[in-house]
Amino acid sequence: MSVALIILAAGKGTRMKSDLPKVLHSIAGAPLLIHAMKSGASLEPDRTVIVAGHGAQAVEAAAKDWSDDAEVVLQTEQLGTGHAVAQAAAALDGFEGDAIVLYGDTPFIQPETLEAMLAARTEHDVVVLGFNAADPGKYGRLIMNGGALEKIVEFKDASGEERAVTLCNSGVICAKSDVLSELVSAVSDDNAAGEYYLTDIIGIARSKGLSATVVECAEAETMGINSRAELADGEVAFQARARRAAMDNGVTLQAPDTVYFSHDTYIGSDTIIEPNVVFAVGVTVENNATIRAFSHLEGCHVSRGGVIGPYARLRPGAELAEDVKVGNFVEIKNAVIDTGAKVNHLSYIGDAHVGARTNIGAGTITCNYDGVFKHHTTIGEDVFIGSNTMLVAPVKLGRESMTATGTIVTHDVPDGDLAVGRVRQENKTGFARRMFEKLKN
Ligand code: UD1
Ligand code: MG
Repeated sequence: MSVALIILAAGKGTRMKSDLPKVLHSIAGAPLLIHAMKSGASLEPDRTVIVAGHGAQAVEAAAKDWSDDAEVVLQTEQLGTGHAVAQAAAALDGFEGDAIVLYGDTPFIQPETLEAMLAARTEHDVVVLGFNAADPGKYGRLIMNGGALEKIVEFKDASGEERAVTLCNSGVICAKSDVLSELVSAVSDDNAAGEYYLTDIIGIARSKGLSATVVECAEAETMGINSRAELADGEVAFQARARRAAMDNGVTLQAPDTVYFSHDTYIGSDTIIEPNVVFAVGVTVENNATIRAFSHLEGCHVSRGGVIGPYARLRPGAELAEDVKVGNFVEIKNAVIDTGAKVNHLSYIGDAHVGARTNIGAGTITCNYDGVFKHHTTIGEDVFIGSNTMLVAPVKLGRESMTATGTIVTHDVPDGDLAVGRVRQENKTGFARRMFEKLKN
């Protein structure tokens, strides 16, 4: 059965107190909207329709940046969740298959939960995702009759007896796309809030003789983000889950609470992560690597056996082959470091290729920027770069070449040559002692 996602993302998010639409605030390096799209993407949907309103252009750009297939429909006035779904339903006219409604501000719905809903859909016309709330607050209440869902009552419209119900509406709803379309078109705004409630479709479906049921999930999955404090709580929840998942996959975290992951971090098994490491977006680390304390990695790849840090910074485009060592206070950007090469201390390697087994001495810098353009440095295999070498790009160093300590390399070095580019040392006999005597008296 084909599936369409409808993601509601038109709300302003007043409580964020932000110029940015709420769904574009990030957890673990990805906008909330992308988290919602990712959980839905596990169903391999045929269509993904995002209902945008506030900041629609920015929302559309973010959605398309993540997936070319995302379609955005505009809801110019936020007249309620039922009205929002009606905008998407128009775009899905003629779609044969199920539609699942998700909220763009609810990032933690698990793929298995959505699969359970689709499975339940084969038996029932409408499936609602519910949860037992520790504090039901203002959630819509699910009114059951045995296993059947009779209706959803919004808090504002609920009686005392209905408010005592703890089974609550997460907002996630699934029905056949054309059925959903027909049901939302029958919703009115005759209620305490004067809004078109999506939740009214249950009562409408039941009155038409259609069946409705509830799939339950853990309350944690339904966490919605409405304020900066909730955004921080969401980050905490994400990190806790990511740390746990890494350990379950065979990664050692010496101090889990001090390691930060992004939504797309991948770490292979038997890799050891020391305390205080940050994985910004776009990082993959293969098996048996060690990421030592206080390292920051972003947009990079560390192959099997790599040892990074302590205090290393890998920036976007750092591509490290197997058994590469990157030591303390080293920054690597847009550079390929081949197998077994070492950059152990205080160096900057940017826009470069470092050949296999090459050793980069302490304090080496690729001078890659002339103030206007970036230039490339190519270093061959088995090269020995002496400490404090300045490599003024563009420049090439051949295989098995060498640079003397302190050399400023301004032109290419052929294979097997030594480059020396520094002032020759001269010793002035007794000069230091005479100088000290003068200074001290
Ligand atoms: C909704 C449900 C409630 C449920 C709760 C779970 C309805 C009527 N109520 O209430 O039963 O317990 O979610 O969190 O559905 N949106 C639009 N366009 C609109 C209105 C809303 O895109 O016109 C989007 C919002 O940006 C948000 C989502 O839909 O992402 C939910 O809207 P919200 O106003 O938060 O609904 P609740 O009142 O929380
Ligand atoms: Mg809400």
